[in-house]
Amino acid sequence: MSSLSGRKKSIPQLAERTSGVANPSRRQLLTTGLAVGAGAAMAGLQARPAAAAGDPAITEVQDWNRYLGDGVDARPYGTPSQYEEHVVRRNVAWLTADPVSSVNFTPLHELDGIITPNGLCFERHHAGIADVDPAKHRLMIDGLVDTPLVFTMEDLKRFPRENKVYFLECAANSGMEWRGAQLNGCQFTHGMVHCVVYTGVKLRTILEEAGVKTSGKWLLAEGADASAMSRSIPMEKALDDCMVAFKMNGEALRPEQGYPLRLVVPGWEGNMWVKWLRRLEVGDKPWHHREETSKYTDLLANGKARRFTWVMDVKSVITNPSPQAPVTHGRGPLVISGLAWSGNGTVKRVDVSIDGGRNWKTARIDGPSLDKALHRFYLDIDWDGSELLLQSRAMDEHGYVQPTKNELRLARGENSIYHNNGIQTWYVKADGVVENVEVS
Ligand code: MTE
Ligand code: CO
Repeated sequence: MSSLSGRKKSIPQLAERTSGVANPSRRQLLTTGLAVGAGAAMAGLQARPAAAAGDPAITEVQDWNRYLGDGVDARPYGTPSQYEEHVVRRNVAWLTADPVSSVNFTPLHELDGIITPNGLCFERHHAGIADVDPAKHRLMIDGLVDTPLVFTMEDLKRFPRENKVYFLECAANSGMEWRGAQLNGCQFTHGMVHCVVYTGVKLRTILEEAGVKTSGKWLLAEGADASAMSRSIPMEKALDDCMVAFKMNGEALRPEQGYPLRLVVPGWEGNMWVKWLRRLEVGDKPWHHREETSKYTDLLANGKARRFTWVMDVKSVITNPSPQAPVTHGRGPLVISGLAWSGNGTVKRVDVSIDGGRNWKTARIDGPSLDKALHRFYLDIDWDGSELLLQSRAMDEHGYVQPTKNELRLARGENSIYHNNGIQTWYVKADGVVENVEVS
């Protein structure tokens, strides 16, 4: 990261943003704008008055305006602008005892819309990133089927395809926040989620090709990585909306996401979305493997554990402002933005509170509202510069409302790691700096 901090120093706008201190000349401009333009439409306030003509960004010819740029042969595979180098997946040192069995997080505070760029999708591996040669990759279906089958990647691409946008959330997302506010940034509290468009074949199609016997009620999905990770999935879900996907956002899956083939289990916990998918066994009962017994179960206060808690319930988070994205422009128009999702379908409504949950305003959901996909919401406010306790609360199409963290603890005790969909609070201070807090 040393080159990154060097870069920060050389880019004034970025330094301004990360320090969290508003640029005084800009604040002054905004104040002038407010005084002169009282009663003007909010949108007009953000524009700089023509008096900014002394600005060297206007009066001086910049290098990019003077010299030729790179040619079309310079970047056969494109990467973001050098000024976006800080927009990366990051991990938390104390959570990363060994990087081959760990997690990094999506920089949600730097993104907009509902689609996660491929290079920024969080990663969770149990045994590192398998480097699979697609020519040697096979998918086997065996167990309680009429005809056990083996598919090459080429075989799979000859079945009818579909394209679907789905979020994937690790069951452990927000897991460090169960006992109180801990990590300072939505990237770390909520960044174990991504949302891309998958291209692949319905799982149902290839299961029908093999012919599932009537006694076949469960499916074991197994990965080709060194952990050979496996999960039991009820046949009803397998035949409903699951897919075997080979493309994400139009291009081949990234190695991190399971190249060349992954299972897509819409709305259900990320652990079931087996990467580097190599085998599907049909059985008459679940297998009770490691990932559904010692892990991915929720120990309750009475000592009993919830098991097979597959669905990721309705959840939301404000991505801006947030600890890594403080308010740097001072008072006036402020765009509050965030993400909401539900493993049960679409999100119907998102409410936002600026006073820690006392009063709520319904936010505007913008962009597509798709089944089991991320939804983007906005609330445009006129910030008077006073402290805020920002919260968002989502409601899904079935009327399920996101609970507070205290409500969750009452229901599930304090032993849990997984399935924390509680309401997040960000404390915005008068200087625009934002902190992760809890309100009681
Ligand atoms: N599949 C295999 N084969 N090996 C793994 O380690 N990790 C699981 C799941 N599938 C894993 C796997 C977990 S816990 C999650 S949350 C998701 O993959 C993460 O998917 P991603 O790395 O594409 O974000
Ligand atoms: Co996971």
